Amino acid sequence: MQQLEVSEELARRVVAALRRAFDLDLDPAAALVTVSTRDGVDYQCNLAMSLGKRLGKPPREVAAGIVGHLDLDDVADPPEIAGPGFLNFVLRREWLEQRVTGLAGDDRLGVPEAAQPRRIALDYSSPNVAKEMHVGHLRSSVIGDAITRLLRFAGHEVLPHNHLGDWGTPFGMLIEHLLDEPPAGHSGIGDLNAFYQAARQKFDADEAFATRSRERVVKLQSGDAGTLATWQELVDESTRHFNAVYRQLGITLTDADIYGESFYNPYLAKVVDELEADGLTEISDGAVCVFPEGFRNREGDRLPLIVRKRDGGYGYAATDLATARYWTTERGATDLLYVVGTPQAQHFAMVFAVCRAAGWLDGVHAEHIGFGSVLGADGKVMRTRAGETIKLADLLDEAVAQAAEVVAERSELSADEQREVARAVGIGAVKYADLSGDRERDYVFDWDRMLAKEGNTSVYLQYAHARIESILTKANGEAGNAPVLLTEPAERALALTLLRFGEAVHAATKSYAPHKLCTYLYDTAVTFSRFYEQCPVLAAETPELRASRVQLATLTSRTLVKGLELLGIEAPPHL
Ligand code: ARG
Repeated sequence: MQQLEVSEELARRVVAALRRAFDLDLDPAAALVTVSTRDGVDYQCNLAMSLGKRLGKPPREVAAGIVGHLDLDDVADPPEIAGPGFLNFVLRREWLEQRVTGLAGDDRLGVPEAAQPRRIALDYSSPNVAKEMHVGHLRSSVIGDAITRLLRFAGHEVLPHNHLGDWGTPFGMLIEHLLDEPPAGHSGIGDLNAFYQAARQKFDADEAFATRSRERVVKLQSGDAGTLATWQELVDESTRHFNAVYRQLGITLTDADIYGESFYNPYLAKVVDELEADGLTEISDGAVCVFPEGFRNREGDRLPLIVRKRDGGYGYAATDLATARYWTTERGATDLLYVVGTPQAQHFAMVFAVCRAAGWLDGVHAEHIGFGSVLGADGKVMRTRAGETIKLADLLDEAVAQAAEVVAERSELSADEQREVARAVGIGAVKYADLSGDRERDYVFDWDRMLAKEGNTSVYLQYAHARIESILTKANGEAGNAPVLLTEPAERALALTLLRFGEAVHAATKSYAPHKLCTYLYDTAVTFSRFYEQCPVLAAETPELRASRVQLATLTSRTLVKGLELLGIEAPPHL
């Protein structure tokens, strides 16, 4: 049987007391039981204050009513009523000891599995063919991958799909350019951005080339075999670049997850047919459009979602309609999630509105998981000194180089180990910087801050973990199932923190907010270091206490490793 979170354990008992005392039914989730920041108090309940009005009684009287009917068994002592009516809970030592000891035999570290697993189609990374990935794609890749890991750990089925921008009019000029100037040797295109820009320049300057490019688009769309083969070369070449970045980053996406825009071509006509049959479309300026309810521009005009352009072609919006329809109707997805930058919020809101009107989202949860921009030190969207967008591959190489300097200072590791560690530290720092802040906010890309050994950084967590591992190596694996004894406040604080892992994972998963897990892991590492300062582990007074502390250290290490793993960050054993 799965254990309840501590806060839920208390919440249920409060709710039961409320029913007995005031004949009032409340969802335990609304019982406002939270971790307390007060000294000597573990959890608190603020319910009496909000219920006072509803029950027409002073909050302290409500609090007293709850306490009078509270059945806590052996979980906690009867709570003290504080201030205007807070209930202050202190957990019983034996109960806490038993709970923490229970984690030792639990490979999920107290994280429950979802009662109703969902099938979640998750769109993330989604870079564009024949262009380098930029930092926006970095964010989507890193956040999307963490969300994938969190959802899978919660027991859901995740269907990742990488919505490559691999179709549209620019491919005419790109194909022509590739045919004009095939790359020399086996090295491939090399610099995708330069290739794209060269094609664009030729298109703008050379009328004959522009004409050929337009004709090429028609050939591509009509399925001309030779044209498709060249197009495929471009896609393969770009995919190789993307895969290199994914491997460098430890992103779980593979070729099997590629569902580029072109994948939805066969479904586009059907999308238009169904929307027309439902009477949702209008012709506007020769284009087939849907005007979803509630979307207007500043002048108050209705905003269209263009389903088919006047020339008969399909664009970004039409493809997204087909995408949503495909994943819900053909693949049975219960959830559609899109990890895409916040500037596309309105696009997705409109796509969802049209899909809902078409009946493609019945019983389906659709959500755009937006994120802010990455800024340079000057507070502007990050660019190179020459003003170009920064290439992701270069950025990651730089991260590893910088990390090498950080770890080289202190280490007695072999050259190979050092390289491995530098990679884990550098890549981890970039990912953690991206994950540890509220994703909706912009963040400043700052090497010094992300590679700092103190503060809420992955380096700090990785060091904390490595330090614990070195203690555990000396303890020679003696934790086993040793019971945890909580004799000191620092032990108790660590135990309480370890028991909150499930809550933290749940909160991060529920609101697709990896930063909540980051904050928790940082708390855990800080709480451990306080424990380690105050409680000798290997030199504990008795063998039982030593085994208990080794157990606490083991649990902390496992929690950090699991937490980092859910974020997609490695925890090297030596650092
Ligand atoms: N390729 C797009 C871009 O780079 C992102 C695609 C996001 N996914 C989607 N289904 N529209 O901006």
